[in-house]
Amino acid sequence: DMARLVLALETSCDETSAAVLRDGTDILSNIISSQIDVHKKFGGVVPEVASRKHLEMINGVVQEALDQAGVDFSMLSAVAVTYGPGLVGALLVGVAAAKAIAFALDIPLLGVNHLEGHLYANFLVEPELDFPLLCLVVSGGHTDLVVMSGHGSYRVVGRTRDDAAGEAFDKVARTLELGYPGGPLIDKLAPEGNETAVPLPRAYLEEGSLDFSFSGLKSAVINYRHRSRLRGEAVNRADLAASFQRAVVDVLVDKTVKAAGRFGAGTVLLAGGVAANRCLRETLAGECNNRGIRLVTPPPVLCTDNAAMIACAAYYKFLRGDFAPLTLNAVPGLKL
Ligand code: KG4
Ligand code: ZN
Repeated sequence: DMARLVLALETSCDETSAAVLRDGTDILSNIISSQIDVHKKFGGVVPEVASRKHLEMINGVVQEALDQAGVDFSMLSAVAVTYGPGLVGALLVGVAAAKAIAFALDIPLLGVNHLEGHLYANFLVEPELDFPLLCLVVSGGHTDLVVMSGHGSYRVVGRTRDDAAGEAFDKVARTLELGYPGGPLIDKLAPEGNETAVPLPRAYLEEGSLDFSFSGLKSAVINYRHRSRLRGEAVNRADLAASFQRAVVDVLVDKTVKAAGRFGAGTVLLAGGVAANRCLRETLAGECNNRGIRLVTPPPVLCTDNAAMIACAAYYKFLRGDFAPLTLNAVPGLKL
Protein backbone atom coordinates (compact mmCIF):
# COMPACT_ATOMS: atom_id res chain seq x y z
CA ASP A 1 0.00 0.00 0.00
CA MET A 2 1.51 3.31 -1.12
CA ALA A 3 1.44 6.38 1.09
CA ARG A 4 -0.60 9.22 -0.34
CA LEU A 5 1.19 12.55 -0.45
CA VAL A 6 -0.95 15.66 -0.85
CA LEU A 7 0.51 19.11 -1.51
CA ALA A 8 -1.84 21.92 -0.44
CA LEU A 9 -1.73 25.67 -1.08
CA GLU A 10 -3.44 28.40 0.96
CA THR A 11 -3.45 32.05 -0.23
CA SER A 12 -6.92 33.31 0.75
CA CYS A 13 -5.77 36.30 2.83
CA ASP A 14 -2.37 37.40 4.06
CA GLU A 15 -0.43 34.16 4.56
CA THR A 16 1.24 32.34 1.67
CA SER A 17 1.29 28.73 2.83
CA ALA A 18 2.14 25.32 1.38
CA ALA A 19 2.12 21.95 3.13
CA VAL A 20 2.82 18.32 2.34
CA LEU A 21 0.87 15.69 4.29
CA ARG A 22 1.15 11.92 4.22
CA ASP A 23 -2.16 10.05 4.39
CA GLY A 24 -4.19 13.07 5.46
CA THR A 25 -2.95 13.71 8.97
CA ASP A 26 0.82 13.25 9.00
CA ILE A 27 2.31 16.74 8.51
CA LEU A 28 5.65 16.45 6.67
CA SER A 29 5.87 20.22 6.19
CA ASN A 30 3.70 23.31 6.76
CA ILE A 31 5.44 26.46 5.50
CA ILE A 32 3.67 29.72 6.42
CA SER A 33 4.97 32.99 4.99
CA SER A 34 3.16 35.84 6.74
CA GLN A 35 2.60 39.24 5.12
CA ILE A 36 1.73 40.91 8.42
CA ASP A 37 4.75 43.21 8.33
CA VAL A 38 3.80 44.44 4.85
CA HIS A 39 0.19 45.26 5.83
CA LYS A 40 0.92 46.54 9.35
CA LYS A 41 1.65 50.09 8.26
CA PHE A 42 -1.80 50.28 6.63
CA GLY A 43 -3.56 48.94 9.75
CA GLY A 44 -5.13 46.06 7.85
CA VAL A 45 -4.79 43.80 4.81
CA VAL A 46 -4.55 45.71 1.51
CA PRO A 47 -5.97 43.30 -1.12
CA GLU A 48 -3.86 44.47 -4.08
CA VAL A 49 -0.67 44.31 -2.02
CA ALA A 50 -1.63 40.83 -0.78
CA SER A 51 -2.04 39.48 -4.34
CA ARG A 52 1.33 40.81 -5.45
CA LYS A 53 3.06 39.43 -2.39
CA HIS A 54 1.49 35.97 -2.87
CA LEU A 55 2.69 35.97 -6.48
CA GLU A 56 6.19 36.83 -5.34
CA MET A 57 6.28 34.12 -2.66
CA ILE A 58 4.28 31.17 -3.97
CA ASN A 59 6.94 29.26 -5.94
CA GLY A 60 9.53 29.57 -3.18
CA VAL A 61 7.06 28.50 -0.49
CA VAL A 62 5.99 25.44 -2.52
CA GLN A 63 9.61 24.44 -3.09
CA GLU A 64 10.37 24.87 0.61
CA ALA A 65 7.39 22.67 1.54
CA LEU A 66 8.59 19.92 -0.81
CA ASP A 67 12.21 20.21 0.38
CA GLN A 68 11.30 20.10 4.05
CA ALA A 69 9.07 17.08 3.42
CA GLY A 70 11.91 15.41 1.51
CA VAL A 71 9.77 14.78 -1.57
CA ASP A 72 9.71 16.00 -5.16
CA PHE A 73 6.83 16.81 -7.48
CA SER A 74 6.83 13.33 -9.06
CA MET A 75 5.89 11.71 -5.72
CA LEU A 76 2.68 13.70 -5.20
CA SER A 77 -0.72 11.93 -5.35
CA ALA A 78 -2.80 15.12 -5.57
CA VAL A 79 -2.64 18.89 -5.22
CA ALA A 80 -5.16 20.85 -3.16
CA VAL A 81 -5.98 24.54 -2.92
CA THR A 82 -8.26 26.95 -1.07
CA TYR A 83 -10.66 28.42 -3.69
CA GLY A 84 -12.81 30.53 -1.32
CA PRO A 85 -13.94 32.37 0.67
CA GLY A 86 -11.32 35.12 0.71
CA LEU A 87 -9.80 37.95 -1.31
CA VAL A 88 -10.31 37.18 -4.99
CA GLY A 89 -6.87 38.31 -6.18
CA ALA A 90 -5.16 36.44 -3.35
CA LEU A 91 -7.16 33.24 -3.94
CA LEU A 92 -6.38 33.36 -7.67
CA VAL A 93 -2.63 33.05 -7.07
CA GLY A 94 -3.05 29.74 -5.21
CA VAL A 95 -5.71 28.45 -7.61
CA ALA A 96 -3.59 29.20 -10.70
CA ALA A 97 -0.51 27.59 -9.13
CA ALA A 98 -2.41 24.45 -8.07
CA LYS A 99 -4.03 24.06 -11.48
CA ALA A 100 -0.66 24.39 -13.20
CA ILE A 101 0.84 21.71 -10.92
CA ALA A 102 -2.14 19.36 -11.41
CA PHE A 103 -1.98 19.79 -15.20
CA ALA A 104 1.78 19.42 -15.47
CA LEU A 105 1.92 16.30 -13.28
CA ASP A 106 -1.42 14.89 -14.45
CA ILE A 107 -2.61 14.36 -10.86
CA PRO A 108 -6.01 15.14 -9.31
CA LEU A 109 -6.88 18.68 -8.23
CA LEU A 110 -8.85 19.22 -5.01
CA GLY A 111 -10.68 22.48 -4.25
CA VAL A 112 -11.16 23.22 -0.55
CA ASN A 113 -13.43 25.70 1.22
CA HIS A 114 -11.26 27.73 3.61
CA LEU A 115 -13.73 27.22 6.49
CA GLU A 116 -13.74 23.48 5.87
CA GLY A 117 -9.97 23.69 6.21
CA HIS A 118 -10.31 25.41 9.59
CA LEU A 119 -12.68 22.63 10.75
CA TYR A 120 -10.24 19.94 9.65
CA ALA A 121 -7.40 21.42 11.72
CA ASN A 122 -9.12 19.40 14.46
CA PHE A 123 -8.69 16.13 12.55
CA LEU A 124 -4.96 16.79 12.46
CA VAL A 125 -5.05 16.57 16.26
CA GLU A 126 -7.65 13.84 16.60
CA PRO A 127 -8.43 11.77 13.45
CA GLU A 128 -11.02 9.59 15.23
CA LEU A 129 -14.02 11.76 16.10
CA ASP A 130 -17.63 10.66 16.59
CA PHE A 131 -20.28 12.51 14.59
CA PRO A 132 -22.28 14.66 15.00
CA LEU A 133 -19.69 17.26 15.92
CA LEU A 134 -20.44 20.84 16.89
CA CYS A 135 -17.84 23.30 15.69
CA LEU A 136 -17.33 26.96 16.56
CA VAL A 137 -15.51 28.64 13.65
CA VAL A 138 -14.17 32.04 14.70
CA SER A 139 -11.92 33.89 12.29
CA GLY A 140 -11.34 37.34 10.85
CA GLY A 141 -14.26 36.93 8.47
CA HIS A 142 -16.56 34.37 10.12
CA THR A 143 -18.29 33.45 13.35
CA ASP A 144 -20.24 30.27 12.61
CA LEU A 145 -21.67 27.39 14.60
CA VAL A 146 -21.50 24.34 12.37
CA VAL A 147 -22.99 20.89 12.87
CA MET A 148 -20.86 18.31 11.10
CA SER A 149 -22.77 15.04 10.62
CA GLY A 150 -20.07 13.28 8.59
CA HIS A 151 -17.02 14.02 6.46
CA GLY A 152 -17.98 16.75 3.99
CA SER A 153 -21.40 17.23 5.58
CA TYR A 154 -21.99 20.62 7.20
CA ARG A 155 -24.94 22.63 8.43
CA VAL A 156 -24.46 26.19 9.63
CA VAL A 157 -26.84 26.61 12.60
CA GLY A 158 -25.64 30.02 13.80
CA ARG A 159 -23.73 32.92 12.33
CA THR A 160 -22.83 36.54 13.00
CA ARG A 161 -25.29 39.15 11.85
CA ASP A 162 -22.64 41.86 11.64
CA ASP A 163 -18.96 41.76 12.59
CA ALA A 164 -17.00 38.53 12.88
CA ALA A 165 -15.36 37.85 16.26
CA GLY A 166 -11.85 38.39 14.85
CA GLU A 167 -12.95 41.59 13.16
CA ALA A 168 -14.25 42.88 16.52
CA PHE A 169 -10.91 42.02 18.16
CA ASP A 170 -9.03 43.85 15.39
CA LYS A 171 -11.25 46.96 15.50
CA VAL A 172 -11.16 47.21 19.30
CA ALA A 173 -7.38 46.83 19.24
CA ARG A 174 -7.21 49.71 16.76
CA THR A 175 -9.36 51.85 19.08
CA LEU A 176 -6.98 51.03 21.93
CA GLU A 177 -4.04 51.83 19.63
CA LEU A 178 -2.52 48.41 20.26
CA GLY A 179 -1.58 47.66 16.65
CA TYR A 180 -2.42 45.06 14.03
CA PRO A 181 -3.56 42.31 14.00
CA GLY A 182 -5.40 43.01 17.21
CA GLY A 183 -6.49 39.56 18.38
CA PRO A 184 -3.12 38.34 19.63
CA LEU A 185 -2.36 41.76 21.19
CA ILE A 186 -5.61 41.80 23.20
CA ASP A 187 -4.99 38.19 24.19
CA LYS A 188 -1.59 39.26 25.54
CA LEU A 189 -2.72 42.46 27.29
CA ALA A 190 -5.98 41.21 28.86
CA PRO A 191 -4.44 39.14 31.69
CA GLU A 192 -2.96 42.39 33.06
CA GLY A 193 -6.44 43.92 33.36
CA ASN A 194 -9.62 43.41 35.37
CA GLU A 195 -12.35 41.87 33.22
CA THR A 196 -15.13 43.26 35.41
CA ALA A 197 -13.78 46.84 35.35
CA VAL A 198 -15.85 48.11 32.39
CA PRO A 199 -19.48 46.98 32.07
CA LEU A 200 -20.06 46.05 28.40
CA PRO A 201 -23.12 44.64 26.61
CA ARG A 202 -23.48 40.99 25.58
CA ALA A 203 -25.79 40.34 22.64
CA TYR A 204 -27.61 37.05 23.16
CA LEU A 205 -30.33 38.07 20.65
CA GLU A 206 -33.77 36.42 20.62
CA GLU A 207 -34.51 33.53 22.98
CA GLY A 208 -32.95 30.37 21.53
CA SER A 209 -31.06 32.14 18.75
CA LEU A 210 -27.64 30.71 17.88
CA ASP A 211 -26.67 33.83 15.93
CA PHE A 212 -24.09 36.36 17.07
CA SER A 213 -23.72 40.13 16.96
CA PHE A 214 -20.57 41.99 17.96
CA SER A 215 -21.04 45.45 16.49
CA GLY A 216 -22.89 46.76 19.57
CA LEU A 217 -20.09 45.59 21.82
CA LYS A 218 -17.49 47.12 19.52
CA SER A 219 -19.34 50.46 19.50
CA ALA A 220 -19.64 50.38 23.31
CA VAL A 221 -15.85 50.06 23.59
CA ILE A 222 -15.30 52.88 21.10
CA ASN A 223 -17.82 55.13 22.93
CA TYR A 224 -16.29 54.38 26.31
CA ARG A 225 -12.90 55.38 24.92
CA HIS A 226 -14.27 58.63 23.42
CA ARG A 227 -16.16 59.60 26.56
CA SER A 228 -13.08 59.09 28.69
CA ARG A 229 -11.05 61.20 26.28
CA LEU A 230 -13.59 64.05 26.39
CA ARG A 231 -13.52 64.00 30.18
CA GLY A 232 -9.75 64.00 30.06
CA GLU A 233 -9.62 60.71 31.95
CA ALA A 234 -6.97 58.14 31.18
CA VAL A 235 -8.31 54.78 30.06
CA ASN A 236 -6.83 51.66 31.55
CA ARG A 237 -6.32 49.78 28.30
CA ALA A 238 -5.70 46.45 30.00
CA ASP A 239 -9.03 46.72 31.87
CA LEU A 240 -10.87 47.62 28.70
CA ALA A 241 -9.19 44.82 26.71
CA ALA A 242 -9.97 42.29 29.45
CA SER A 243 -13.60 43.42 29.76
CA PHE A 244 -14.10 43.30 25.98
CA GLN A 245 -12.50 39.87 25.66
CA ARG A 246 -14.67 38.51 28.49
CA ALA A 247 -17.85 39.84 26.81
CA VAL A 248 -16.96 38.14 23.50
CA VAL A 249 -15.94 34.87 25.12
CA ASP A 250 -19.04 34.68 27.36
CA VAL A 251 -21.39 34.77 24.37
CA LEU A 252 -19.30 32.45 22.19
CA VAL A 253 -19.04 29.80 24.90
CA ASP A 254 -22.68 30.04 26.00
CA LYS A 255 -24.04 29.52 22.47
CA THR A 256 -21.52 26.80 21.62
CA VAL A 257 -22.41 24.54 24.55
CA LYS A 258 -26.13 25.20 24.03
CA ALA A 259 -25.81 24.21 20.37
CA ALA A 260 -23.92 21.04 21.31
CA GLY A 261 -26.81 20.08 23.59
CA ARG A 262 -29.48 20.95 21.06
CA PHE A 263 -27.89 18.94 18.23
CA GLY A 264 -26.76 16.00 20.33
CA ALA A 265 -23.05 16.53 19.77
CA GLY A 266 -20.85 14.87 22.38
CA THR A 267 -17.77 16.57 20.97
CA VAL A 268 -17.09 20.26 20.35
CA LEU A 269 -14.41 21.51 17.94
CA LEU A 270 -12.84 24.95 17.94
CA ALA A 271 -11.48 26.47 14.72
CA GLY A 272 -10.23 29.68 13.08
CA GLY A 273 -7.74 32.35 14.10
CA VAL A 274 -9.66 33.45 17.22
CA ALA A 275 -9.50 29.82 18.43
CA ALA A 276 -5.91 30.66 19.36
CA ASN A 277 -7.28 32.97 22.09
CA ARG A 278 -6.32 31.70 25.55
CA CYS A 279 -9.36 33.08 27.36
CA LEU A 280 -11.70 31.42 24.84
CA ARG A 281 -9.85 28.11 25.03
CA GLU A 282 -9.82 28.07 28.84
CA THR A 283 -13.43 29.16 29.28
CA LEU A 284 -14.74 26.70 26.71
CA ALA A 285 -12.66 23.90 28.23
CA GLY A 286 -14.19 24.63 31.65
CA GLU A 287 -17.79 24.71 30.38
CA CYS A 288 -17.36 21.55 28.27
CA ASN A 289 -15.82 19.80 31.24
CA ASN A 290 -18.77 20.79 33.47
CA ARG A 291 -21.23 19.32 30.99
CA GLY A 292 -19.33 16.16 30.08
CA ILE A 293 -18.67 17.37 26.53
CA ARG A 294 -15.42 16.40 24.87
CA LEU A 295 -13.49 19.41 23.52
CA VAL A 296 -10.90 19.28 20.74
CA THR A 297 -8.76 22.33 19.96
CA PRO A 298 -5.96 22.56 17.41
CA PRO A 299 -2.65 24.01 18.62
CA PRO A 300 -2.55 27.79 17.94
CA VAL A 301 -0.34 27.46 14.83
CA LEU A 302 -3.02 25.26 13.21
CA CYS A 303 -5.82 27.67 14.25
CA THR A 304 -4.58 30.60 12.16
CA ASP A 305 -4.34 30.28 8.37
CA ASN A 306 -2.10 27.43 7.18
CA ALA A 307 -2.00 24.90 4.34
CA ALA A 308 -1.80 21.77 6.52
CA MET A 309 -5.48 22.14 7.46
CA ILE A 310 -6.33 22.51 3.75
CA ALA A 311 -4.40 19.33 2.94
CA CYS A 312 -6.25 17.45 5.68
CA ALA A 313 -9.69 18.51 4.41
CA ALA A 314 -8.54 17.69 0.88
CA TYR A 315 -7.48 14.19 1.84
CA TYR A 316 -11.02 13.27 2.87
CA LYS A 317 -12.26 14.69 -0.45
CA PHE A 318 -9.62 12.59 -2.20
CA LEU A 319 -10.96 9.45 -0.49
CA ARG A 320 -14.49 10.33 -1.69
CA GLY A 321 -13.26 11.01 -5.23
CA ASP A 322 -14.50 14.58 -4.89
CA PHE A 323 -12.07 16.13 -7.40
CA ALA A 324 -12.15 19.60 -8.96
CA PRO A 325 -11.99 20.25 -12.70
CA LEU A 326 -9.04 22.17 -14.17
CA THR A 327 -11.53 24.98 -14.79
CA LEU A 328 -11.70 25.57 -11.00
CA ASN A 329 -12.03 29.28 -10.26
CA ALA A 330 -11.70 31.41 -7.13
CA VAL A 331 -15.05 31.99 -5.37
CA PRO A 332 -14.56 34.92 -2.95
CA GLY A 333 -18.01 34.49 -1.34
CA LEU A 334 -17.96 30.68 -1.12
CA LYS A 335 -20.28 29.25 1.57
CA LEU A 336 -19.85 26.10 3.63
O1 KG4 B 1 -8.39 32.31 10.54
P1 KG4 B 1 -7.54 33.53 10.46
O2 KG4 B 1 -6.05 33.37 10.59
O3 KG4 B 1 -7.81 34.27 9.10
C1 KG4 B 1 -9.11 34.32 8.59
O4 KG4 B 1 -9.55 33.30 7.99
O5 KG4 B 1 -9.76 35.37 8.83
O6 KG4 B 1 -8.09 34.54 11.57
C2 KG4 B 1 -7.52 35.81 11.73
C3 KG4 B 1 -8.21 36.49 12.89
C4 KG4 B 1 -7.78 37.93 13.08
O7 KG4 B 1 -8.93 38.72 13.27
C5 KG4 B 1 -6.93 37.87 14.35
O8 KG4 B 1 -6.94 39.07 15.09
C6 KG4 B 1 -7.60 36.75 15.10
O9 KG4 B 1 -7.92 35.79 14.11
N1 KG4 B 1 -6.72 36.14 16.11
C7 KG4 B 1 -6.97 36.17 17.43
C8 KG4 B 1 -5.87 35.54 18.06
N2 KG4 B 1 -5.00 35.13 17.08
C9 KG4 B 1 -5.54 35.51 15.90
N3 KG4 B 1 -7.99 36.70 18.14
C10 KG4 B 1 -7.95 36.59 19.48
N4 KG4 B 1 -6.93 36.02 20.15
C11 KG4 B 1 -5.87 35.48 19.49
N5 KG4 B 1 -4.86 34.91 20.17
ZN1 ZN C 1 -8.80 31.61 8.13
